[in-house]
Amino acid sequence: MNLIEMKNIIKDYYLGETIVQALRGIDLKIEKEEFTAIWGPSGSGKTTLLNLIGTIDEPSSGDLYFNGDKINNITDNNKSEFRNNEIGFIFQTFNLIPVLSALENVMLPLQIMGVSASKAKKEAFMRLSDVELEQYVNSRPDKMSGGQRQRVAIARALITNPSIVLADEPTANLDSKTSNSIIEIMKKINKKDKTTFIFSTHDQRLLDQMDRLIQLEDGRITE
Ligand SMILES: Nc1ncnc2c1ncn2[C@@H]1O[C@H](COP(=O)(O)OP(=O)(O)O)[C@@H](O)[C@H]1O
Ligand SMILES: [Mg+2]
Repeated sequence: MNLIEMKNIIKDYYLGETIVQALRGIDLKIEKEEFTAIWGPSGSGKTTLLNLIGTIDEPSSGDLYFNGDKINNITDNNKSEFRNNEIGFIFQTFNLIPVLSALENVMLPLQIMGVSASKAKKEAFMRLSDVELEQYVNSRPDKMSGGQRQRVAIARALITNPSIVLADEPTANLDSKTSNSIIEIMKKINKKDKTTFIFSTHDQRLLDQMDRLIQLEDGRITE
C-alpha cells in the first residue's frame, strides 16, 4: 500500500482578486521507506506540496491519502495528532531555539508530548549520535556551523519516530560539500530506520544523490 497518495490535487491561493494556481493537478504515490526529492525552481509549488502532505495546509480540491485513509478532510484535532505521530519537519532555516542546547532542542518535541525528561534525554542522545553530533550535545546553535545546526534539526525531526520526514529545501543555506553530507546523513537514517524521506530542493548539484526524483514546474509534475 502507498504511504502517501495524491489524486488530482489542486491548490489555489487567493490574493484579493487574483488566483495563484500553486498546484495544478498533482497525481503522486509515495511508498513506505522511499527517499524522494521534489525538485523544481523557486515558485514551482514545492513548499505547497510538502505543506499539504504535512496537513499544514489543505488542498482546494482532490484527495490525499495516508496509508489508504483519506486525510484531506480530517478535523483540526486529528490533524495535530497525525502530525505529532507521523510527521517530522525539517526547514531551510533550521528553526532551532537559540537559548537551548542541541540536546534540549532535540528533547523538546518529546517533552511537549509529556515524555519524562530522563527518557527524552536518552532518546535525544541517541538521535544526536545518529547525526554524528555526540560532541555537541551541550552546545547552543550559535556555536555550531550551518551543517551542524541542520543535523540538530534532523535529530529533532526524528525524535518522535515519525513515519515521514518532510524537509523543505534543507540544504538551501549550506555550501555544496555540507549539503552533500546532509543528504548522506538523511539517506543513512532512511536505510537504518526505514523512515520515509520527502525533501524539496532546487539545487541541481544534489541530483546524483537522489533515489527518486519528482520534477515540478508551475504546479505540475513534469517528470
Ligand atoms: N500563502 C500564499 N499566498 C499566496 N500565494 C502563495 C502562497 N504560498 C505560495 N504561494 C504561491 O504559490 C506558488 C508556489 O509557491 P511555493 O509552493 O512556495 O513554491 P516553491 O516552494 O517551489 O518555491 C508561487 O507562485 C507562490 O508565490
Ligand atoms: Mg519553497
